[in-house]
Amino acid sequence: QLILNTLNDAGSIPDTRTLTIPGTSQQAASSDAQITILGALNSLDSRQMIQYQSHEILSHVLTPEGAQIALQGSHEARVWAVLPAKGDGEPVTPAQLKSLVGDETAKVGQGRAFKNGWIAKEGAGLVKIKPAIDDVTQTELRQVDSTGTVPAGEKSLADLRKRKLIVQNRKGQWFTVSKGPNFSTSTAKPQTDLTVDMLTSGEWKSANFKKYNFEAEGIPTNGGALHPLLKVREEMRNIFLEMGFAEMPTSSYVESGFWCFDALFVPQQHPAREMQDTFYLSDPVKSLPPPKAYYERVSKVHEHGGYGSTGYRAPWSDAESHKLLLRTHTTASSANMLYKLAARCRGEVTEGEEYDFGGTSGRVERKEGLEGADDGFRPAKLFSIDRVFRNETMDATHLAEFHQVEGVVADRGLTLADLIGFMRVFFNKMGIKNVRFKPAYNPYTEPSLEIFAFHPQLNRWVEVGNSGMFRPEMLAPMGFPKDVHVHGWGISLERPTMIRYGINNIRTLVGHKVPIESVEKAPAVRF
Ligand code: PHE
Repeated sequence: QLILNTLNDAGSIPDTRTLTIPGTSQQAASSDAQITILGALNSLDSRQMIQYQSHEILSHVLTPEGAQIALQGSHEARVWAVLPAKGDGEPVTPAQLKSLVGDETAKVGQGRAFKNGWIAKEGAGLVKIKPAIDDVTQTELRQVDSTGTVPAGEKSLADLRKRKLIVQNRKGQWFTVSKGPNFSTSTAKPQTDLTVDMLTSGEWKSANFKKYNFEAEGIPTNGGALHPLLKVREEMRNIFLEMGFAEMPTSSYVESGFWCFDALFVPQQHPAREMQDTFYLSDPVKSLPPPKAYYERVSKVHEHGGYGSTGYRAPWSDAESHKLLLRTHTTASSANMLYKLAARCRGEVTEGEEYDFGGTSGRVERKEGLEGADDGFRPAKLFSIDRVFRNETMDATHLAEFHQVEGVVADRGLTLADLIGFMRVFFNKMGIKNVRFKPAYNPYTEPSLEIFAFHPQLNRWVEVGNSGMFRPEMLAPMGFPKDVHVHGWGISLERPTMIRYGINNIRTLVGHKVPIESVEKAPAVRF
């Protein structure tokens, strides 16, 4: 109000330090008073009632050396003080001077005292030639100490600063104030809303409305944010889609032993089926029966072989096949989809039940001489990215559930070279230029390859995936013709995500300890 009244009376305020504090006769010269004034100025400025400029008050303080001089006098004055007047006692030798005033003062002080004409040489010693001196340095430093400046002005201050006897510091600010476009002596808050009452009473005509601030930043919305795993999944999905793959339905977390293992020719005695590796369901205990004829072909190939295989020659257990479990790999879904793909070869497909098998665009070139009569087979390229479950001991890099990025390619006459070629292209699109392959073992693929990528930060080769050519024991019972080969692979979604985001403990990526903020702020991923 004081500012507004003063502006109203005087038109402007050239220096806010001259304002008189209300209720006192004091001027608002202190820095505290100016801080209070600044608060008022900002508030009035935001309503465009006033405009102001700020000015800095620069002040000076003594350095430790400056403080010493303010107390004891300048080096030159101290030298002058210990010397005898000319003709009044023995001149003081340079060595004596050092022991009287110290090395530093003797050295610096002598030169300056000579320059000022205060002392002179007398034989091998020194004498004073001025009966009295004016120690300007000391006087000025004392002035700086009590007032922050010197009457002699900036030139002297600059000299003292250069001699490192004082340093500048900012002591405060003051302001000049003028009227703004909305100037008024009333500080009543402007209206922010046009209300029904204002319309009916007519008050809107004279009301002072607050201006819209179109420059104001909006309040950050608390909307959802994509988890880093979802961002990486999206990038991988895009790679598959641009390579002409179709996405497999993978919503069934619960599978039967049949689809997860038997269909893949995993022996029923395989250690991966043990309780400590696989989570089994206790309710319901038993799965719905798989397609009968297929089930019989699968059990037969396990027990007795066929299609050129000797089989495992171990007794088949229906109970093992009917167990329900949390799928340990998405290859369970792949098996299911391959079985559906082979439906045309089995002559079972009914119109309108066909899936998109992704085989039409950019498919693998057909091998010469492999085309025969139409046996119903159509090539396919399928992928999925979804969750799998394993009964693992959890640590920094293992959880009991994670995501697999999986795919299968089915075509006539595919070879291991097609698989390797595909892997190179696929990983290259993910920004991994350097891949190597190592022979491995899977019950359902032969040959099998582990895929290694060079990790520049770790400076070593790390395993990034597992792959192989599906065995005839798996494909033939589904009904695929002999010349149809299928290659497949699986990689983890978590590992590349952790590498991309520099996360080394999986618990900061997945689970209840993930800070929501880190999810909201996680940058997008581009391979
Ligand atoms: N199912 C394998 C795994 O879980 C990955 C894989 C899929 C390997 C398809 C070969 C073929 O690691």
